[in-house]
Amino acid sequence: MFYRKTDFEFSKQSKDLIVSLFADRWKESFPHDVEYGSLKALGFDTNTIYEELNLFLLGYNLNCSYAGISIFLSNLREKTKTNPHIDILHKNKERLPIRSRFNIMILGNPEDPMFWWNKMKFGDPDHIENTFTYFGKPYRSFGIPGNTVEERWNYLREPTEIKNNLLTPSSFVNTINAHALELSPGPRLIVSVPFDKNIEDIACY
Ligand SMILES: [Fe+2]
Repeated sequence: MFYRKTDFEFSKQSKDLIVSLFADRWKESFPHDVEYGSLKALGFDTNTIYEELNLFLLGYNLNCSYAGISIFLSNLREKTKTNPHIDILHKNKERLPIRSRFNIMILGNPEDPMFWWNKMKFGDPDHIENTFTYFGKPYRSFGIPGNTVEERWNYLREPTEIKNNLLTPSSFVNTINAHALELSPGPRLIVSVPFDKNIEDIACY
């Protein structure tokens, strides 16, 4: 299973607050950025955001304790296929899987598709440590073989699943399999909660 859509949406008050927290980030274009952890650290009263999210996740016996909340930001200049990858959590020098995420779209084009591949999963032998270059910046990480984003897409060949209108307004998504996105230009802001639970094991109680 690659995704499970939900109808969770933040209240208008919370949505407006999240938008306002990052309002000054859209002046320049940039490929991809992740803000981890505590929205509270930004000095705003973000309690309602946590309350709304925790109340919903409680219904699935889930919470934000595995790796906090991540905020994915991008502001691309043109339509871009992102780097295919498998999510990893680096904790106490350990490399742990992020088996799934709960993603809520705040800004962006909901039609942008997400792609998944059955060919590769976290811990597979071809999930290799390598130096990667992503939008001009080198970094060392475990990833899919290939020196460029395009080579990695070619390595994986045809996606097993493609889904657009995934985050309308929110979804649990599989992140233990190789996955990627094709993003429209312009501001994109996703609130994301990572879990150590396979999407097949996430059930509504
Ligand atoms: Fe990912």
